[in-house]
Amino acid sequence: MKDKVVILGVTGGIAAYKAAELVRLLVKGGARVHVIMTKAAQHFVSPLTFQTLSGNPVHTELFNLIEEQEIGHISLAERADLVLIVPATANFIGKLASGIADDLLATTVMATRAPVLLAPAMNTAMYQNPVYRENQEKLLRHGYHFVPPATGMLACGWEGEGKLQEPSVILEEAFNLLSLKDLKGEKVLVTAGPTREELDPIRFFSNYSSGKMGYALARAARRRGAEVTLVTGPVSLEAPWGVDIVRVTSAYEMLDAVLRVFPEMTVVIKTAAVADYRPEERSPGKIKKSETPLTVRLVKNPDILAELGKTKGNRFLVGFAAETGEIGANAPQKLQQKNLDLIVANDVTRAGAGFAVDTNIVTLYFKDGRSEELSLMGKDELADVILDRIVAALGQKREKENG
Ligand code: C5P
Repeated sequence: MKDKVVILGVTGGIAAYKAAELVRLLVKGGARVHVIMTKAAQHFVSPLTFQTLSGNPVHTELFNLIEEQEIGHISLAERADLVLIVPATANFIGKLASGIADDLLATTVMATRAPVLLAPAMNTAMYQNPVYRENQEKLLRHGYHFVPPATGMLACGWEGEGKLQEPSVILEEAFNLLSLKDLKGEKVLVTAGPTREELDPIRFFSNYSSGKMGYALARAARRRGAEVTLVTGPVSLEAPWGVDIVRVTSAYEMLDAVLRVFPEMTVVIKTAAVADYRPEERSPGKIKKSETPLTVRLVKNPDILAELGKTKGNRFLVGFAAETGEIGANAPQKLQQKNLDLIVANDVTRAGAGFAVDTNIVTLYFKDGRSEELSLMGKDELADVILDRIVAALGQKREKENG
């Protein structure tokens, strides 16, 4: 998103206020946002709101702009890396599908060569109207992109399809359209989060894993064109958009889910903090308190990654190693033992690294003996660096295989 020029078109629907949140998210991501509002949109939200959030003047009038030398509608359209229409009304979509360009926004959209993403929001019956459907089909055929509306309570009192999609999802689709598709054709499996090993129906053993690193990798791989399956333990994160999700609880359930999809995968990234042990017995009823100490015997769980390593074939296998010191000795050893191509190691006791924080400090160890120490960075940024290295290694690997 950094320094990308995004034109955000706001048309006249009650959901126009939600576009303000999207501007905030885009600006936070480093984008340079220019807002164009239709006349009707200005009845719902004041241009001042968008001007304040974007830090740029809001464009509303076609003829004023044409008189300007610098920022005419064509120049805005040319400078854009991406055009978003949030919300896109049935009227605006109809206009676009018919080639009508009678205001600044419609003219800009028709004049741009940048990808255009429309986020429709309207009454359910309007959304299902065959004329609307035809217009949407036509625009899809011509290469316009849509983020489907959500289902829920609409402002008009109806319950159904037509609610503007969440700003976080629209942002994700915007990222998707701006990303290089260097993982196209790859099928990537990511595991994330902790596992829970039950002692009785209300108690379990687990760990502090938040799932953030794995979710960041799943999102980034999908943006870069991969088909992504995410097998996740219990976490409190929003499900990544456009990713197949399989939810599991215990290590055994994770093993089952992973083995089911493993054959068709080309890349496997195991960020999950799988519990190494589980209680030997699970009590069917709640264990009662008593005066004597309670002894719980723990038995070994299967090592999922080591299992995959045995039948990895041509797949690219990535492990994570959370250590408390001694990284340099343990991580390369695990890479060998589990037959991995890459292991990402971190010392979870360091400030800014490991579980539950938004940043990480890791060292990468490669199969050929190389290692790379990375500095502290956000988990989203780190996800892209790890994928950069995977893309490079995959390229080399395939070159070798093809002689
Ligand atoms: O040996 P260690 O648990 O440190 O290895 C960590 C790596 O192995 C991680 O990638 C983790 O997902 C994986 N792992 C696994 N099954 C286990 C334990 C760890 O797949 N039972």
